[in-house]
Amino acid sequence: MVRPSSTVSALRLTAVLGILGVALAAGGCVESTKTVFKSPDLTAGVPTAALGFIGYTDTASHTTVCGNCHVDKQARWAQSGHAHAWLTLVQSGSAQAACEACHTVNGRGNPLADTLTAGFLSTRDARYHDVQCENCHGPGLKHVQSPTFASAPLATVNAGVGLGRGCGDCHNGVHHPFVDEWAQSPHAQVLAPPAGNVACQGCHIAQGALKQFNIQGRYLEQDSTRPLPITCAVCHDPHGSTNTHQLRYSISSSDPSQNLCMRCHNRRGGPDPTASLSGPHAPQTALLTGTAGWWPPNLPIDPGSIVATHGSTANPRMCATCHVQSFAVTNPSTGAFVFQATGHLFLAIPCPNAQGVPTTDTTCAVTQRLFTACTASGCHGSTDAARSAFTTSTLRIQTLNNTLKAMLKKVPATEFSTTDNRYSTAEGAQFNSKLADMSGSVVHNPFLLEALLTGSIAQVTKDYGILPSGSVVLTNIMRTFPH
Ligand code: HEC
Ligand code: HEC
Ligand code: HEC
Ligand code: HEC
Ligand code: HEC
Ligand code: HEC
Ligand code: HEC
Ligand code: HEC
Repeated sequence: MVRPSSTVSALRLTAVLGILGVALAAGGCVESTKTVFKSPDLTAGVPTAALGFIGYTDTASHTTVCGNCHVDKQARWAQSGHAHAWLTLVQSGSAQAACEACHTVNGRGNPLADTLTAGFLSTRDARYHDVQCENCHGPGLKHVQSPTFASAPLATVNAGVGLGRGCGDCHNGVHHPFVDEWAQSPHAQVLAPPAGNVACQGCHIAQGALKQFNIQGRYLEQDSTRPLPITCAVCHDPHGSTNTHQLRYSISSSDPSQNLCMRCHNRRGGPDPTASLSGPHAPQTALLTGTAGWWPPNLPIDPGSIVATHGSTANPRMCATCHVQSFAVTNPSTGAFVFQATGHLFLAIPCPNAQGVPTTDTTCAVTQRLFTACTASGCHGSTDAARSAFTTSTLRIQTLNNTLKAMLKKVPATEFSTTDNRYSTAEGAQFNSKLADMSGSVVHNPFLLEALLTGSIAQVTKDYGILPSGSVVLTNIMRTFPH
C-alpha cells in the first residue's frame, strides 16, 4: 500500500522532536522528505475531567493536538467552518449554555466517548472551543501517548443522531435539519441487491463510494459487512476541501468525472447492446450533457450537441441548483421562523405540507409543488413561469412518447429478441421511450428528448412501415425535427 502524499506514511518513517529539532529515522530508511513534528509535551495540562479529550495545543492559532503530527489534515481542517464554530457562536450575540454542545469538543459526534459530558462540557477549558478532530474521532489521549496504527481513534462515517453516531449529533433540529431531511431521501436507503454486488457498490453504498473516491484512510465501518447508505461523509470531506461547503467534488464542473452528483448519477444513459432490454439507469448526467439515448442512424444531430440551458454554464450549480436548495420557511401571516429547509431531501419540486415545509410526498398536483429552486437561481422570472414551462414540456414529451409506444406495440416481437446479437430500431426506440418516462427527464433535457422521440418515430416508420397516429403527424415531426 503506497500512500505517497499521506502524512501518516511520512510519520511512520520520520519523527522529529520539535523542541530539539532532531530527526529520528524509524526503520532505517527515509522515503519521504515531509517533516513531522512531535512535541514531547502534547498532553501537558490536559484536565482529567475532560475524559481523554485533548483539544488544542495552541488555542490562539487553532493548532489541534492531532494536527501536530497529521499536518495535512490540520491545514485543511483549519480552513473549514468547523475551525471557527466557537467564534461564530460568540459573534451571534445570543450564546448560551445550551448552544455549547454543538460548537465545542465533547462527546457529541463520535462513537468512542462514553458520555457527552466530556471535553468542554466537563471543563469549560478554551482548548475545547470549536469542532475539532476529536469531535468526530473521539478522545485521543491514548493514541497520542502511544501514537501507533493500532491505537488510532477511528471516525465513523455514519450520519445518525445520539451518543456516538456522527454528524447528526449536531446537524439536526429545525435550524439545521440536515440529517432529518437526508434520512427521508433515497440517499439514506440501501437497496438490497446492489448492496451485495461489487459492481454496484461504488454508487450504491458508502463503503463502495468512498473506495471509488479513492479514500484510503481507515474509518470504523470500512470492513463492516453492514452496508451504509450515501451518508454525509460520502459527499462532504470532513477535513475540509477547496470546493464549496467541504464537498469532495465540485458541484459546478460539467466534467462528469469531476462533478459530485455526476460521479454516481451516470450509469447507463444510452443503450447497452450486450443487455438489449436494459433501460436507462441513472441517465441524468447523460441527459444534461446531451449524450443520452439511442441515436437513430439518420438523426441530423451529433451526440453532445444538444445541451439544454440546465446543463450549460448558464446554470453554474448544475444538478444542485434544482436538487439542493436551502431556504427558510416562515409563517405567512406572522413572518415568524418555522423551519430551515436544507435541500437535503434532494427534491427539485417538492410538495409542501400545510406549513410550507417541503416533504417527500410525490402525489400533490403540479400546482401545489414548490418551484422556488427555479427562481432562486435567477433562471426563471417567477415560479409560475417555471411551472408552466414544466407543464408544457411534460405534455409535449408525453404526447410524442404515447405515439411512439403505440407504434412499438405493432412491431413484431422478434425485433425485441435478446438472443439475436442485434440492437434493433425497436429496441433503441424503446430505450428512448423509457428515458422519456423517467421522472425529471423532461427537465434534464427537453430538447434532446424531443429529438430522440421524433427521431425514433421517424425511424420506426421507415424501418417497419408503421405510421404514427393521433395528434402527432409525421409531417409535424419532420418540421420540428431539430438540426
Ligand atoms: C505524536 C504524533 C501523533 C499525534 C499527536 C496523533 N497521531 Fe494519529 N497517528 C500517528 C501515527 C504514527 C499513526 C500511525 C500511522 C501509520 O502507521 O500509518 C497514526 C494514525 C492515525 C489514524 C489512522 C490512519 C489511517 O491511515 O488509518 C488516525 C485516524 C489518527 N491517527 C487520528 C489521530 C487523531 C484524531 C489525533 C488527535 C487526537 C491523532 N491522530 C494524533 C501519530 C499521531
Ligand atoms: C460537534 C458538533 C458537530 C459535528 C459532530 C459535526 N459538525 Fe459540521 N458544523 C458544526 C457547526 C457548529 C458548524 C458551523 C460552523 C460555523 O459556521 O462556525 C458546522 C458546519 C459544517 C459545514 C459547513 C461548513 C462550511 O464551511 O460551509 C459542513 C459542510 C459540515 N459542518 C459538515 C459536517 C459533516 C459532514 C460532519 C460529520 C462527518 C459534521 N459536520 C460533524 C457542528 C458539527
Ligand atoms: C444541535 C446542535 C447545535 C446547537 C445546540 C446549536 N448550534 Fe449553532 N450550529 C449548529 C450547526 C450544525 C451549524 C451549521 C449549520 C449550517 O452550516 O447550515 C450551526 C451554525 C450556527 C451559526 C452560523 C449561522 C447559521 O445558522 O448557519 C450560528 C450564528 C449559530 N450556530 C449560533 C448558535 C446559537 C446562538 C446557539 C444556541 C442558542 C446554537 N447555535 C446552538 C449546531 C448547533
Ligand atoms: C455509476 C453508478 C451506479 C452503478 C455502478 C450502479 N448504480 Fe444503480 N443507481 C445509481 C443511481 C445514481 C441511482 C438513482 C438514480 C435514479 O433513480 O434514476 C440508481 C438506481 C438504482 C435502482 C433503483 C431504481 C429505482 O427506480 O428506484 C436499482 C434497483 C439499482 N440502481 C440497481 C443497481 C444494481 C443491481 C447495480 C449493479 C449491477 C447498480 N445499480 C449499479 C447509480 C449506479
Ligand atoms: C467532521 C468530522 C471530522 C473531523 C472534524 C476530523 N475528521 Fe478525520 N476523519 C473523519 C472521517 C469521517 C474519516 C474517514 C473518511 C475519510 O478519510 O475522509 C476521517 C479520517 C481521518 C484519518 C484517516 C484517513 C487518512 O486520510 O489518513 C486521519 C488521520 C484523520 N481523519 C485525522 C484527523 C485530524 C488530524 C483532524 C483534525 C485536524 C480530523 N481528522 C478532523 C472525520 C473527521
Ligand atoms: C448526495 C450528496 C450529499 C449528501 C449525502 C449530504 N450533503 Fe450536505 N450538501 C451537499 C450539497 C451539494 C450542498 C450544497 C453545496 C453548495 O451549494 O455549495 C450541501 C450543503 C451542506 C451544508 C452547508 C449548507 C449551508 O447552507 O450552510 C451542510 C452543513 C451540509 N451539507 C451538511 C450535511 C450533513 C450533516 C449531511 C448528512 C446528514 C449531508 N450534508 C449529506 C451534498 C450532500
Ligand atoms: C455516491 C453516489 C452518489 C452521489 C455522489 C449522489 N447520488 Fe444521488 N443517488 C445515489 C443512489 C445510489 C440513489 C438511489 C438510492 C435508492 O434508490 O436507494 C440516489 C438517489 C438520488 C435521488 C432520488 C432518486 C429517486 O428515484 O427518487 C436524487 C434526486 C438524487 N440522488 C440527486 C443527487 C444529487 C443532486 C447529487 C449531488 C448533489 C447526488 N444525488 C449525489 C447515489 C449518489
Ligand atoms: C433545472 C433543474 C434540474 C436540474 C439542473 C437537474 N434536475 Fe433532476 N429533476 C428536476 C425535476 C423538476 C425533476 C422531477 C421531480 C418530480 O417530478 O418530482 C427531477 C428529477 C430527478 C431525479 C428523479 C427522482 C426525482 O426526484 O423525481 C433524479 C435522480 C435527478 N433528477 C437527478 C439529477 C441529477 C443527478 C442532475 C445533474 C446531473 C439533475 N437531476 C439536474 C430538476 C432538475
